[in-house]
Amino acid sequence: SIDYKVAKLLSEMTLEEKIGQMNQYNGFWNVTGPTPSSGDAAHKYEHLRKGYVGSMLNVRGVEEVRAVQKIAVEETRLGIPLIIGFDVIHGYETLSPIPLAEAASWDLEAIKKSAEIAALEASAAGINWTFAPMVDISRDARWGRVMEGAGEDTYLGSKIAIARVKGFQGEDLSKPNTIAACAKHWAGYGFTESGKDYNTVDVGTSTLNNIIFPPFKATVDAGVKTFMNSFNELNGIPATANAFLQRDILKEKWNFDGFVVSDWGSMAEMINHGYAENIKHAAELSVIAGSDMDMESYAYVNELANLVKEGKVDEGLINDAASRILKVKFELGLFDNPYKYCDEKREKEVIGSKEIHDAVLDVAKKSIVLLKNENNMLPLKKKGQKIAVIGTLANDKTSPLGSWRIAADDNTAVSVLEGLAEYPDNAITYAKGADLVLGEATFPFELEINTTDKSGFEEAKNAAKNADVVIMVLGEHGFQSGEARSRSEIGLPGVQQDLLEAVYAVNKNIVLVLNNGRPLTISWADAHIPAIVEGWQLGTQSGHAITQVLYGDYNPSGKLPMTFPRSVGQVPIYYNYKNTGRPAANEPNSVFWSHYIDESNTPLYAFGHGLSYTSFSYSNLKVKKISEQHVEVSVELKNTGKVKGKEVAQLYIRDLFASVTRPVKELKGFELVELEPNETKTLTFQLTEKELGFYDNNGDYVVESGDFKVFIGGSSVTVLEEKFKL
Ligand code: IFM
Repeated sequence: SIDYKVAKLLSEMTLEEKIGQMNQYNGFWNVTGPTPSSGDAAHKYEHLRKGYVGSMLNVRGVEEVRAVQKIAVEETRLGIPLIIGFDVIHGYETLSPIPLAEAASWDLEAIKKSAEIAALEASAAGINWTFAPMVDISRDARWGRVMEGAGEDTYLGSKIAIARVKGFQGEDLSKPNTIAACAKHWAGYGFTESGKDYNTVDVGTSTLNNIIFPPFKATVDAGVKTFMNSFNELNGIPATANAFLQRDILKEKWNFDGFVVSDWGSMAEMINHGYAENIKHAAELSVIAGSDMDMESYAYVNELANLVKEGKVDEGLINDAASRILKVKFELGLFDNPYKYCDEKREKEVIGSKEIHDAVLDVAKKSIVLLKNENNMLPLKKKGQKIAVIGTLANDKTSPLGSWRIAADDNTAVSVLEGLAEYPDNAITYAKGADLVLGEATFPFELEINTTDKSGFEEAKNAAKNADVVIMVLGEHGFQSGEARSRSEIGLPGVQQDLLEAVYAVNKNIVLVLNNGRPLTISWADAHIPAIVEGWQLGTQSGHAITQVLYGDYNPSGKLPMTFPRSVGQVPIYYNYKNTGRPAANEPNSVFWSHYIDESNTPLYAFGHGLSYTSFSYSNLKVKKISEQHVEVSVELKNTGKVKGKEVAQLYIRDLFASVTRPVKELKGFELVELEPNETKTLTFQLTEKELGFYDNNGDYVVESGDFKVFIGGSSVTVLEEKFKL
């Protein structure tokens, strides 16, 4: 068995070799020698040859991976292969939509397929471990990394987390086209204070147990092989040295038998946190707390052996960590064939193949959300239209790739203009209107946003004046969200709002296509612009997906996985809030209730919102008690419009009284249903103890009897409700 093989190998290893397995270096060595960017590459190379490196990240391509693997296998004493990690977040070279966009599909099959395709392409480039999925729940659109998660909801987030893990890892991890997944960031990173990346996290026990933990637990149950801890502190203890998280919950309570990698340099950062005195202390704290692998802190490789020799760290902890890492390597089949991901022929055939492009286009279409469509302005007519296209993002082939696109080249996305060109019976005039970014948009540097230059406005207005329809593609550049990309204002950046208003003054027939990696505050647009399409950053096939939706060749069915606020002052805003003691004014002139004096409490677009080119009606909601803790809910869903369409029917519950207060609504079921015009289907949902309970403040799962409500509809602003008792 694998456990036997691990134990046998471990017994042959020196302390330093075991610690070596716990050391991960960023790529420093390629086929031509040390890479220029890594200062002490020669030193790292020596470590690699001695067997003091267990993993590398950011080494990619068969030639490079083979070169480093060869050193590990042929030059080290025991020939233990490396595990090769990479941020395969929404694809490798051919990109799917950013994860937040994919979550808007609510299509678990499509999401799983997207991860499967990403694994297929990445594994063909030598990679066998992805630092994904990010399963952090977040309610704060200012945080740039909301683009990398599944949005604000724990139930949806957990289902998507499972789909992604299964997509990456497949049924059989030892196959060459599957890779190990990594649930990150453990834990609380999405609740970073004021939405500022890497900031302090301070959440209550109930939020931790009920909102933050469940998607992680779901990945453990789905067999995820690795976890990554997070940069933040939680209750004053950095996650990297947090034994409550890594030992008590993850490894003991949940029985996780994979390994935990630190985030980049997070061990060393504990000195800045004011938690570790020096790097040696950081190594000691981290290993005791259950961090198994050190990503780029040089803490373990330089300090652990001495800590063991001095008796400060028990060698048993090293044995446990090294065993966990070796186990995953055995499961990947690396000991049978360390070069199984290094097949030049497969690399050539697979990367960028038609199969991959078709799959990313499919999920891109499914991720689009129709936010507004007054008077059925969309879909567009395919013939005889004069269309003005405005906005620099319409002509951008890089921005739609979004953040986390390390292996994708610039200019490889299909732009909206290119997509529109495939409908040649309309006349297109393009005017950029204004630059969004000044100079080069190069990651990871700060972008310079154009906040003054409006010299292109006249040209845009002239183009709009003579058009039947104006398509404006506005929003964020792909590098304005992602890691270290927090924003304090979340409207249309730069002069784009002014451009929108200027064009509107000459032609009101505008379709606004948004490109963005987070919810935006677009209250003015919602009040004035007749049609608004949420086009996120949709990856390589972006322009094709958007234009197929604009022309009705694909009927949109996406639903928002995150609430859109009216103004940034409402943030954090989310549908599953608590009622409070003063939920609404009891009397017309009441003052003392939970509200703003200058803004409504309601969102601009609710969680779960999204329109279609057809319409749906819900009726006949029935609740049937099956047993003590099992209720069956049914509803009839009808396509009341003229075209075939898909709807995400959503079921929410409210537990009216509980020993820990419950939110006003909680998503507990959904179904993606396709219906022909006039077709009706009866949908049935089962509410069992899994859906009806919650975690109390001891972290125990409880189901409490009492009064509940169930709500059903096409968004979190539901249309039908019923009561039931447990
Ligand atoms: O995987 C990432 C993580 O999410 C943020 N820090 C760097 C890691 C490796 O690139």
